[in-house]
Parts: sequence; C-alpha cells; structure tokens
Amino acid sequence: MNNPFRLGILGSGTGSNFVAIADACAAGKIPAPVALVLSDVETAGILKHARERKLPAQFIPPGKFRTKLDEEAERTFVGALQGARVDLVVLAGFMRVLKGDFLRAFAGRIVNIHPSLLPSFPGLEAWKQALDHGVKVTGCTVHFVDAGVDAGPIIGQQTVPVLDNDTPDSLIQRIHGAEHELYPRCVAAIARRDISVVGRRVIWKK
Ligand code: GRF
Repeated sequence: MNNPFRLGILGSGTGSNFVAIADACAAGKIPAPVALVLSDVETAGILKHARERKLPAQFIPPGKFRTKLDEEAERTFVGALQGARVDLVVLAGFMRVLKGDFLRAFAGRIVNIHPSLLPSFPGLEAWKQALDHGVKVTGCTVHFVDAGVDAGPIIGQQTVPVLDNDTPDSLIQRIHGAEHELYPRCVAAIARRDISVVGRRVIWKK
C-alpha cells in the first residue's frame, strides 16, 4: 500500500483495547499499520503487548502533573507521533487529559473510547457511575477528542445490559467485550475514510 494511514496508540494501562486494534490491523481488518505505541507509565501492559508484537513502543515520562502532560512531555509525545508520521492518534486507556498544543498538532485526528454511553457518565469509573445510578443499559462510546473531557463528536456506540446481580467487576468485563468490537470497527472506518464530521454529527458513508 502506498502511503498507508498510520496509527499512533497511547495508553497507560492493561492495553486490551490496543490488543484488539493491533490484532485487527494484523488481520487486515483495519487498513492501517500501528506506527507507534506510547505510554506515560513505564510498566504499562500496553508497552509489553506492543513489544511482543514487535511494534515500536516507547515510555515517555509525563512530567510533574498528575492528570496532564507537562510542556516538555507534551512536546516529546507530539514530536514522536509526528516523527512516526502518524495520521490518527488512538487513545486506549490513556489516563491524562490532552491540552492545547497536542490538540492543535492533531486537530480532528484524535479518538478515544469511554466505558459508558456518552454524554451519560463522563469521567472516572463510568461503569460504577452507571451501577450507582441504576440504569438498565450502558455501554461504550468512541468519540473524537476536543478540549472538553469525554466531549467530542460521537463516532460509534455499543450497548450492554446492566443485570440485577452485576458487580462493578462483572459490568466492566461486559463493557470491555463491547469495546473490543466497537473500537476496531470505528478505527477501520476512519482509516478507510468512510466517515465525515458535520458539526457535532459523525456520518458513516457505508
Ligand atoms: C477502557 O475501559 C476504556 O474505555 C478506558 O480505559 C480502559 C482501557 O482499558 N478509556 P485497556 O487498557 O484497553 O484494557
């Protein structure tokens, strides 16, 4: 493929969504290579999974803040992604909020997955929020990233039932199962240029 669409994947944790996406790329279901995997956590599972797959993977120290990257770290992340000629930044459990220069460098080209049906339950531990609220259906959302938290245009959503005997653990397991289907499907559609954004609405052409 000439000039393939290239993915940069960022995560801080286990990396199960990364695995689903990387395996979909390897199987040709997503027409794009994983060009780079970055983490702000040196021991994160996502880096281990990437290295096992012989994909370029790098730890970048996040700097002095707890919930965002400091200026130097932001420059290093952006430089690494640009150096790898990444077309789409895929957040897969990346636990820091991206700010100005990062968002500007990849405007409209950053996606995230969140474990609820947004706009319900943004923020941390969304599955616990869903249980506490008593909803009967929850799920996951893939969305473009903008300056808000869990707030950009919605690309895709998948529902899961909330069962009477669910615990936080059983519910997040079910949501993860849905995430591993939804995220590769959405990334594939973007890589194929099968979606367009009209205001807040994301239109699927196929
Ligand atoms: C997922 O539940 C995702 O919705 C949230 O972070 C979690 C990442 O899990 N943004 P994993 O590292 O992909 O297993």
